[in-house]
Amino acid sequence: MASSSAVEKITDPFSIQDDESCQQRILAAKEALGERLVILGHHYQREEVFRHADFSGDSLKLSRQAANAKAEFIVFCGVHFMAEVADILSRPEQISIIPDQNAGCSMADMADLPQVERAWQELSTLLDPEESITPVTYINSAADLKGFCGRHGGIVCTSTNARHVLEWSFGQREKVLFFPDQHLGRNTGASMGVPLDEMVVWDYDQPMGGLTQEEVHKAKIILWKGFCSVHQVFKPEQIEQFKRLYPEAKIIAHPESSYEVCQKSDFVGSTEYIIQTIADSAPGTRWLVGTELNLVNRLHEQFKGEGKSVHFMSPTICMCSTMFRIDPPHLLWTLESLLEGQVVNRVEVVEGVAEQARLALQRMLEVSP
Ligand code: 13P
Ligand code: SF4
Repeated sequence: MASSSAVEKITDPFSIQDDESCQQRILAAKEALGERLVILGHHYQREEVFRHADFSGDSLKLSRQAANAKAEFIVFCGVHFMAEVADILSRPEQISIIPDQNAGCSMADMADLPQVERAWQELSTLLDPEESITPVTYINSAADLKGFCGRHGGIVCTSTNARHVLEWSFGQREKVLFFPDQHLGRNTGASMGVPLDEMVVWDYDQPMGGLTQEEVHKAKIILWKGFCSVHQVFKPEQIEQFKRLYPEAKIIAHPESSYEVCQKSDFVGSTEYIIQTIADSAPGTRWLVGTELNLVNRLHEQFKGEGKSVHFMSPTICMCSTMFRIDPPHLLWTLESLLEGQVVNRVEVVEGVAEQARLALQRMLEVSP
């Protein structure tokens, strides 16, 4: 077994590493950094990385962990917006790090500040948005969009608290502009009784979002035309087919899945909710799960000993390719660099933006269950 001193230091994160020696060196670096380090891991991380997390969770749980972290270094094994939130919510002297800066989120990239500002300006030709629209951004978004919500009386949401956040938002103003994920917005609105024809899609490539004046005036929720490329592969037909084979099976999906998939599911919720619901189910239960493959595989392994059977909703493999960018060599490089007194891949949100984004995040934490 190789120890961290017996093998050459990683200076290039892309160098090929023997898996076992990489794992051992991560453990050794973690031990050497001790309480100076906390590793946060999202449920979609691959197993070889996930096992090193001190805390795991969904976006809300990890945001709270970051806000309460004592460590000098917060290494976020997740995607970029999560490390930004950790930087915003942690103390100024703490350092937020992502092992690979290219671990973004394709959904988050579907809305940017100029597009959202243009939408706000176009809407202001029909009504006063500051009076009548609460902007709500899913946490899967860049920090400057959270800042936009902070300065326009808006708020951030996650898949766990979207309903509480929408209730708060309708208490402020009569309409909501929800970005970037149309599915989370629609699924949450529908679960609150908002009629489908009062939730319209804002196509950011079209003037006035491609909507008529009447559609804007009638809308309760204006949904950004964004989606998750992973969750869009789940289809209602896959649920029907599975139910024909296993009529007793339970169906559970993440709310980034389509309205049709969520309507056919017995349970809909965040990654943490999915784990908890399957954990709480009776031995022998069979589950069809609509969320990312690394998590579904982990659930399959975790619960097979209890006689629970966990199946993936899609016949095609769909991992989150950006979550998958965080691999053991990058994690090792990050940790060994810290040991050498060098911070690599710091995620730092500029203070003006961070302040406004913090406002929107704090509103979210206040209304969250
Ligand atoms: P959760 O907050 O439910 O973990 O979701 C994060 C995410 O990116 C799902 O695609
Ligand atoms: Fe983004 Fe989808 Fe990956 Fe979640 S699963 S991080 S929403 S691309």
